Amino acid sequence: MKIAVLNGSPRKENTDAMVQAFCEGAQAAGHEVEVYHVGRMKINGCLGCGYCHDKGEGNCIQKDDLEKIMPAYKEADIIVFASPIYYFTMTAQMQAAIQRMYCIWKPLKAQKCALLLSSGSPNVYDGAIAQFKAMMGFSKIDIAGIITAHGEENKSEAKMNEIREFAKSL
Ligand SMILES: Cc1cc2nc3c(=O)[nH]c(=O)nc-3n(C[C@H](O)[C@H](O)[C@H](O)COP(=O)(O)O)c2cc1C
Repeated sequence: MKIAVLNGSPRKENTDAMVQAFCEGAQAAGHEVEVYHVGRMKINGCLGCGYCHDKGEGNCIQKDDLEKIMPAYKEADIIVFASPIYYFTMTAQMQAAIQRMYCIWKPLKAQKCALLLSSGSPNVYDGAIAQFKAMMGFSKIDIAGIITAHGEENKSEAKMNEIREFAKSL
């Protein structure tokens, strides 16, 4: 399967470790994995101008790094959303990447998606998980799994193994 991982973290720390473990497991299972570091890209918020649906034939009028991640939305069989929790939701960079999907409404090919979340504290995931579930319901995509890591779980071998095994199971 072709798996796209969208990583919303602006820095190379805890979420990157989760993404790395995911890639190790997925590759061990024979999947083709591409990581898109949306947290380190320049992706503006949607302007709501409607150009994509009026005249743009599904293309956004803004020319920025959205173009780099469109293959994830158009071609991947599985999409993994990975992000740190910033104020009870995914990062602003990830939100921009998600909302700019508006130009094609929803992933074109993906049959299932997963969510990886890193945070400082426990019990801070409700907002991000609710958004993810609503997005999957709207897109009619199955939820393959949701894995969270807080505090000392971040980068721990136990959590990395859990993620590797999850990736292998896809
Ligand atoms: C702007 C900002 C907001 C944050 N908000 C929360 C929060 O609401 N709840 C929480 O538990 N951790 C919060 N954190 C901590 C991060 O979620 C946590 O350190 C995470 O592991 C960082 O992932 P990273 O290493 O991939 O950047 C916040 C961190 C930053 C920088």
